[in-house]
Order: sequence, then structure tokens, then C-alpha cells
Amino acid sequence: MAETMMMIPKRHLHDDIEIPQLGFGVSQVPPAETQAVVECALEAGYRHIDTAAAYGNEEGVGAALAASGLPREDYFVTAKLWSPQPDPNATVAALEASLDRLGLDHVDLYLLHWPVTAGGGPVGTWQTLEEIRREEAARAIGVSNFRVEDLELLEREAAIRPALNQVELNPRIQQRELRAWHAEHGIVTEAWSPLAQGRILSDETIASAAKDHGRTPAQVALRWHLQLGNVVIPKSVRPERIRENLDVFGFELTVEEMAAIAALDRGMETPAVSRSTIAAR
Ligand SMILES: NC(=O)c1ccc[n+]([C@@H]2O[C@H](COP(=O)([O-])OP(=O)(O)OC[C@H]3O[C@@H](n4cnc5c(N)ncnc54)[C@H](OP(=O)(O)O)[C@@H]3O)[C@@H](O)[C@H]2O)c1
Repeated sequence: MAETMMMIPKRHLHDDIEIPQLGFGVSQVPPAETQAVVECALEAGYRHIDTAAAYGNEEGVGAALAASGLPREDYFVTAKLWSPQPDPNATVAALEASLDRLGLDHVDLYLLHWPVTAGGGPVGTWQTLEEIRREEAARAIGVSNFRVEDLELLEREAAIRPALNQVELNPRIQQRELRAWHAEHGIVTEAWSPLAQGRILSDETIASAAKDHGRTPAQVALRWHLQLGNVVIPKSVRPERIRENLDVFGFELTVEEMAAIAALDRGMETPAVSRSTIAAR
């Protein structure tokens, strides 16, 4: 375990903070199972947990972190505010509620989960997140599901640039334009659903690279992300897969394999239907 932890590279966030490039996502982990699943992940060597108020399982994450006995500075926690709030007090109250459920006095990264226009749009809420960061309730602040146009809006209005944008990204949805924009503006790219929730694991190109390296398709997909520079947060509730997804530092994809996976891009993005559903919540 200690060996794997040592091997997890870090990405520098512009706030002088480092984020482990491979973390553990807990979306859709049932609340009653979350403590055990996160304990398993910590035991395996993960030191970065990605959660959100919307996942309904922050208590389980907090219980696992407390039970681990790990010093606070040894792990990185991301939490998320569901959507823009017209009242700054509501944003502060949402973070305080998350901290309470997590049993923490600060998070390492606080993200605005969706850039919907409901609640007055993202700009006012972002200014509250800036205040939260100044007061160190969050060491860094960022966004999620922001498109270039959403980032451009913040770029015009914000005092602090988002440290990171967490977006749907996998070999079929490669987000090239967005990644280029991030690179140009010093924003770290984080991939949600990095395995496309398992849907890319039967792809022939990925399976063939996995066979050549004596690895699994999931390991090849995660390796592709890491070599691109993405932060990744795969989720699993199964101990063997939790360990498998972390065991990705002992091999490297060739330039040709990276190019073959690059060719799998279908240019899709988070479906518009998700955005309108979110906005309606
Ligand atoms: N910001 C956002 O809007 C947003 C949206 C979605 C997700 N996220 C974050 O991203 C994290 C990951 O995304 P995700 O959970 O949607 O999808 P994912 O990590 O791409 O895939 C998870 C799925 O793949 C399976 N799986 C995991 N490892 C596997 C392996 N080695 N071999 C075969 N199957 C494997 C899991 O099943 P088992 O659990 O049965 O192993 C689960 O069904 C989330 O947990 C959450 O933290 C953020």
C-alpha cells in the first residue's frame, strides 16, 4: 500500500496546492456501504476522495476518514455545491453542512457542480466560493461540467480562476477543445466517469492494448488518462477492482497506443438533457 501511495503523481493546482492525480469517486455508492468501501480504498492506498452533497453519502466518507486515523494532511477531499445559489448564505450553509457530514473543518477542493442558470447563474455563487477560499474553508475552488462558454463568463467576472474543471471525459468523449482551453488558462482537467461507467471496457483497441501489456482494459483506460495529464476518479464498490484501478503505475502506453485510443473519440459531450434535468431540480 505505502508503495502505491508513493507512486501516485500529483498535479499542481494554481492555488499552490497539489492534488493526487488518481483518486476515488463515490457517486452511486449506497450510503450504507460507503464507509466500508472508502475504508477499502484508503487501505488500498487512495488518498484522494471525490464526493458531493448530491451523492448522499458524505457521512460514510467522513466515518471512513475518521476510522483510518490518517493525519488530515495525508488525504485530499473534494466536495461539491449542487448548483448556483441566489443567496450567498445558502452557499456557505451548504458547505458547512457538507463539512459537518464529513467531520472536517475544511475541504481541499470545493466545486460548483453544475453551471446552470437557475439560482442566478454561476458568477454570484463563484464570488461566494472565492470568499470561502479566502477564509480557508476550502483550500482550492473549482468547477464541474463547465463548457468553454461557461469558463469564459467566469474569466471575465471572477477574481480567482477555477483551479480545476471536472467534466465527463473518457476515450469516447475526449473534450479536446475544453482540454486545450484548460491548458491555455492553467486549469487542471479532471475526468468524471473515466471508464464511461464500464462501457468502454469491451472496446477492441483498449482490449488489445490490455492484452499486450498483460493488464486489464480498465487499467489501460486509466493509464491513457494519466498519460494525458488528466486527474481521474474511478469508482468501484468491489475490493478487487478498487485495487486494480490503483495498480496503473507499472506500465506505460506507447505513442502508437495513445494515438489509437485518441482515434476512439466520438466528440460527444454531456447530453443537453442532463443540463436541463439538472436545471429543473
Ligand atoms: N461532477 C459530476 O457531475 C460527476 C458525474 C458523474 C461522476 N462523477 C464522479 O466521477 C466518479 C467516477 O465516475 P462514475 O462512477 O460515473 O464512472 P466510472 O468510474 O467511469 O465507472 C464506474 C463503473 O465501472 C465499474 N468499474 C469500476 N472499475 C472497474 C474495473 N476495473 N473493471 C470493470 N468495471 C469497473 C463500476 O462497477 P462496480 O462498482 O460494480 O465495480 C461502475 O459501474 C464518480 O464516482 C464521481 O465521484 C462526477
